[in-house]
Amino acid sequence: MDITILGIESSCDDTSAAVIRNTTLLSNVIASQAVHVKYGGVIPELASRAHQQNIVPVIDTALKEAGITADKLDAIAFTRGPGLLGSLLVGVSFTKGLAIAHDIPMVEVNHLQGHIMSHFIDLPDRQLQHPSFPFLCLLVSGGHTQIVQVNSPREFQIIGTTIDDAAGEAFDKCAKVMGLPYPGGPVIDKLAKEGNAQAFRFAKPRIEGFDYSFSGLKTSFLYTLRDRVAEDPDFIEKNKADLCASLQRTIVDILLDKLVKASKETGIKDIAIAGGVSANSGLRNGITAEGLKRGWRTFLPEFKFTTDNAAMIALAGYYRYLDNRFSTLDVAPVARLEDLK
Ligand code: KG4
Ligand code: ZN
Repeated sequence: MDITILGIESSCDDTSAAVIRNTTLLSNVIASQAVHVKYGGVIPELASRAHQQNIVPVIDTALKEAGITADKLDAIAFTRGPGLLGSLLVGVSFTKGLAIAHDIPMVEVNHLQGHIMSHFIDLPDRQLQHPSFPFLCLLVSGGHTQIVQVNSPREFQIIGTTIDDAAGEAFDKCAKVMGLPYPGGPVIDKLAKEGNAQAFRFAKPRIEGFDYSFSGLKTSFLYTLRDRVAEDPDFIEKNKADLCASLQRTIVDILLDKLVKASKETGIKDIAIAGGVSANSGLRNGITAEGLKRGWRTFLPEFKFTTDNAAMIALAGYYRYLDNRFSTLDVAPVARLEDLK
């Protein structure tokens, strides 16, 4: 029997709804919020308000594009967390309303597991390659950086995590000090293509195990800028491309270093990346090159599934649906990963 699921994602600054039938994507609608650009970062209250405005039209469009009405859904999968509480509340509350109105079961999804499960989405016209279990996933987003050993669609074992900033945060914060617009990651990626990645050297962390740290790199980047701008006020403007290319190379080196180590120690050679930063061209090229060298099978998500989207939430929800792991009406959103059981 076919299972049709509506996914709802509202954890940060993208309102998204998607419909899948089993693992095949029927629609995926994303409303990105431009309101934050002028502030150089996401303003939580403004994000909540924009979600509230977007959620009805986004869900309406996703259902229409999929050619289905709400009463025909088998379940609604929604992001319970981690994320901004006000933003999550919009998605969770809407899910409850729709579930009560049409008597549809609800399935909660951990946003980070959603990013990982984006590797199992099938397109109606094209088969995408899926990793085999167990595989390693480097999950790199604006708020998290993890190496996850994925043993099955139900078992996610975090074997490495950041002890301070996330990789996306390092991109965004360094972009901000260079006066680049938010979000900085894609802008740095673009500028880096014109620059010399060996022009500058920044600090790399020395941490045991598979854990990450990016705050030292951020500080070293900041100090370099401060010292050089003191000598020449136009330093950043003149060296923007080289700064971006060198920063990107350093972040990618740090990410790959631990991933290589994790693959060696676990013996796992199916390697995936996921999350917003997995759109980064330096990281994609780096993983591919490393894979060729080490005999990995590498899995790079389609660009539309790298940043926040509801397709991945619906897909992760599908596996929970198969396990009958439904949520009850007293479910509340959870901001922090640590509090998400
Ligand atoms: O997964 P995501 O959409 O949201 C979170 O769950 O956090 O990730 C957003 C992050 C931002 O930090 C953004 O700068 C980064 O992904 N990002 C990139 C690129 N595209 C998005 N970072 C580097 N290069 C990119 N091309
Ligand atoms: Zn995300």
